[in-house]
Amino acid sequence: MSSYQIKSQEEYFQVYQQSIQKPEIFWNTIAKEHFMWRKQWDNVINFDFDNAHFKWFDGAELNITENCIDRHLLTRGDKTALLFEPNDPSQPNEHITYSDLYHRVCKMANVLYDMGIEKGDRVCVYLPMIPELVVTVLACARVGAVHSVVFAGFSAVALSSRIVDSSCKMVVTSDGSFRGSKIIPLKPIVDEALKECTSVKHVLVVERTKTEIVMEPNRDFWLAPLLEKASAQFPAVVVQAEDPLFILYTSGSTGSPKGMLHTCAGYMVYAGYSFNNVFQYQEEDTFWCSADVGWITGHSYIIYGPLLNGATSLLYEGILSFPDFGRFWDIIAKHKVNQFYTAPTAIRALAKESLAFVKDKDLSTLKVIGTVGEPINEEAWHWYNNNIGKKNCPVVDTWFQTETGGILISPIPYATPTIPTYATLPLPGIQLALMDDVGNEIKGNQVEGRLCIKYPWPSMARTIWGDHKRYQETYFSSFKKMYFTGDGARRNEVGYYRITGRVDDVIIVSGHNLGTAPIEDAINEHPHIAESAVVGFPHDIKGNALYGYVILKDLKENHNLDTLRTEINALISERISPIAKLDKIQFTVGLPKTRSGKIMRRILRKIANKEGDQLGDISTLLNPQVIQEIIDNSI
Ligand code: WTA
Repeated sequence: MSSYQIKSQEEYFQVYQQSIQKPEIFWNTIAKEHFMWRKQWDNVINFDFDNAHFKWFDGAELNITENCIDRHLLTRGDKTALLFEPNDPSQPNEHITYSDLYHRVCKMANVLYDMGIEKGDRVCVYLPMIPELVVTVLACARVGAVHSVVFAGFSAVALSSRIVDSSCKMVVTSDGSFRGSKIIPLKPIVDEALKECTSVKHVLVVERTKTEIVMEPNRDFWLAPLLEKASAQFPAVVVQAEDPLFILYTSGSTGSPKGMLHTCAGYMVYAGYSFNNVFQYQEEDTFWCSADVGWITGHSYIIYGPLLNGATSLLYEGILSFPDFGRFWDIIAKHKVNQFYTAPTAIRALAKESLAFVKDKDLSTLKVIGTVGEPINEEAWHWYNNNIGKKNCPVVDTWFQTETGGILISPIPYATPTIPTYATLPLPGIQLALMDDVGNEIKGNQVEGRLCIKYPWPSMARTIWGDHKRYQETYFSSFKKMYFTGDGARRNEVGYYRITGRVDDVIIVSGHNLGTAPIEDAINEHPHIAESAVVGFPHDIKGNALYGYVILKDLKENHNLDTLRTEINALISERISPIAKLDKIQFTVGLPKTRSGKIMRRILRKIANKEGDQLGDISTLLNPQVIQEIIDNSI
């Protein structure tokens, strides 16, 4: 068997072949040689696509935090595990070594345990990008509890529904968060959210912004005094391979957000392996992923992947434009970052600014630069490659999903030659298929289809929390014995994959997954609105922006349309998040529907995209007469 870290294209092809011919042997070796187990597994993999049941390393016992921290103490105790860069560049950095991290996680684990958190309990984490966020996540894992991190930009309503869905026993939050020059209150959002939640017994509060907040007696506790008293030792709770590690919510094309459940052993093995290979991490490197821990990228490539490899992972609290648009490049220069991982939307936003922000910044330490979250357009790819990588660093366009747990398609730097906008090839163990609309696999190259995965991989989500049927229907019912990603992809003449975008009603705005259904539900709550439909349209920086078509209840009334637009966006911000606000709102008398009453979003997308002259056959519509009106009034 070859080495853990793939070093050449030849080696990649060889390892890939082994991995798909004998997956059990392949994963068995990786798991055995690179991770620490309390008990070995009985079976590497058991799977049943028909019922959507997947088990990896069944029978094994472990604790992921022993793999992320304890096993590094002897050799890397003084190495920086987490390098914290605060929002305000004039504030000091924090270098948290592996041994500091060990003590901080143990203290936090004791606090959780003393508050009654036990194996299997759900803990909601609603924190800014500060060390306590990482410490809390790991402390949950250490006691065997299930963390559910909710991005701290979500509204009280969104937070509340997530807490209720997984009946969290505790929320860990902070008084507020620093975002550039702004202070965002967080604790009041938690207070609001908890009005609807009966499961939460305690709220732990980190002091960050020193904003005044209300503490409810017997429920809310400042974290610092509890940590101070806690012991710095906490023996890791041994869990089973398939015990839950975390829940992370993601938008679906319909209905409420889906709580994707990830389990311990498989997730660990894949997060560790993929991090090591995609970023070609070397012992002395400093790795920086600019995502938020509220998303899967932050889980796998700020926390678990790097720590499983004994890496130094940079955690940045702030935003890309503060104090100016040179901040990312300042951070890279200051900390001599070797691998940088960000989103296309960030690249586009930075590329729009003057190159003076990049000039004179020493980016020479960079060896690999990556992107994730949405298709990267050719212009952004070249800007990144020319100005940040200086044509000297492989650009890794990495594809994955909340559901896949780790990166499944990506170049291996220095092994896979890159082509702009192509995520290139599957990582070892990942068997891709492109499917046509009627369920046949499209073989050969220079083809396009729906992207599926035809063999299980260790870090696949195991279910949707509380709704296995929905899991099965969403991912395993479109194509027999396959996982359907919801994305379309093209395979070029050399077999490289390019992800073309979602083929369902999920829209990716600035790298955030948004389902149309909850946005439409929020709009429809407005007393004057009868019905609405939301679609995406191309946007220079965000990738996609949202276009809403709205039908008013009473057209005769003299509405102020601009006021209505403001009210609609206020409702969306309150119900979901400001991320989901509409860029364009068109009031219309009708929406194109099929005879069964389904809104034809394909047509609305074309109109929003200014392609109203290319609608194709609309004769099967129930109400083709509305189309011209919609085109004439489009924005
Ligand atoms: C999209 C983010 C093109 C895709 C890690 C996927 C991408 C969705 C890429 C998952 C990429 C992610 N190229 N599209 N390199 N990476 N996507 O769950 O549509 O927030 O299905 O996970 O992002 O978004 P999620």
